[in-house]
Amino acid sequence: MIAVLPGDGIGPEVTACARRVLAAVRPDLQFEEYAVGAAAVATRATALPDATLAGCERADAILFGAVGGTQFDGAPPQQRPEYALLTLRKHFDLYANVRPATMFAGLESRSPLRPDLAAVLDLIIVRELTGGLYFGEKTIETIDGVECARETMSYRAPDIERVVRFAFELARTRGKRLTSVDKVNVLVNSQLWRRTAIRVSADYPDVAFDHLLVDNAAMQLVRDPGRFDVLVMENMFGDILSDEAAALGGSIGTAPSASIGTRPSRGGRFGLYEPIAGTAPDIAGRGIANPAAAILSAALLLRFSCGDEANAKTIEDSVRAAYAAGARTADLVSAGEPSLSSSAFTDTCLRHLRLSQPAR
Ligand code: NAD
Ligand code: IPM
Ligand code: MN
Repeated sequence: MIAVLPGDGIGPEVTACARRVLAAVRPDLQFEEYAVGAAAVATRATALPDATLAGCERADAILFGAVGGTQFDGAPPQQRPEYALLTLRKHFDLYANVRPATMFAGLESRSPLRPDLAAVLDLIIVRELTGGLYFGEKTIETIDGVECARETMSYRAPDIERVVRFAFELARTRGKRLTSVDKVNVLVNSQLWRRTAIRVSADYPDVAFDHLLVDNAAMQLVRDPGRFDVLVMENMFGDILSDEAAALGGSIGTAPSASIGTRPSRGGRFGLYEPIAGTAPDIAGRGIANPAAAILSAALLLRFSCGDEANAKTIEDSVRAAYAAGARTADLVSAGEPSLSSSAFTDTCLRHLRLSQPAR
């Protein structure tokens, strides 16, 4: 069973598209839909209702939309819609967040990079997802009449080791290059990170391994993205650099993600699958969001949680074919140019899917 958590803003719009594509390749899959985020606060007074968590517990994977809402901007962290997502990541110990950034043929001119640099974009950021500043102690208080906020960053060596190992294993299946990103010149967390990564690297002599400071990594990403294959980094660095890497591909609307832990599923490992972008309040409710990130997240769901590489590839090929044939949502055209709605883009993917599949 797949637990579908559409959430807020464009979340429900793009999740519906991903679900259509999943159902087309795997009519046998069962879906159960649950409330999350601001949508759940509105009806159930909590961003993560017990029924939603219980549904996720029974599932093989979670297909997630996005959560958030400007009405919560001043609210304490635990009362925000985002808290639901952070709780799910922690609860299921989804420590490895896989965020691919690739160039689809035909979209080169939409990249902010020169076409020759954009064309070679094909990297994966592995973001640690259960530690760091996100899950440290947080306080906000008035001390001697002065407002003070404090949050702590901490990592345990075993938690660094497991995500670095995950990244090495992933690099082995691709270009056999891994870059570990840190801020070793300032943070003791990064000293532990780098030392641990170097120790783990001894087990992977077949993978070319290097380190970059995070500020330099942000710069190298736009200067020479082709130098990267797999990158691994702590939670906050990964949040920031993955949006940057996604933009290099032409639009964050094409960037999927998989969040994986150790819990088994029927065909692999339990995971949460979602676009890396958010609720996109500026375009929500108009049916024009790019559903590619959600559709590609569904492909990752089949690959990692269902052991269904064939259909994962079929879905990815259908998105590639749609772009090659010129299908574009509004985020990938210039002002005034025609574009497809979310559902019309999905129809195009489904047509390519049927073309590439034998009749059932
Ligand atoms: P955002 O990612 O929602 O939007 C940034 C920009 O990208 C906007 O201009 C938006 O229109 C565009 N964009 C994003 N997805 C798109 C798509 N599929 N198609 C076309 N354009 C797309 O970031 P934000 O505006 O900083 O955040 C809005 C809210 O989303 C916040 O409440 C934030 O906390 C939340 N958020 C949630 C998630 C999540 O649930 N996984 C991720 C990121 C942000
Ligand atoms: C993401 C988002 C989340 C994060 C927010 C919504 C908590 O930005 O998935 O990248 O910061 O991890
Ligand atoms: Mn983010």
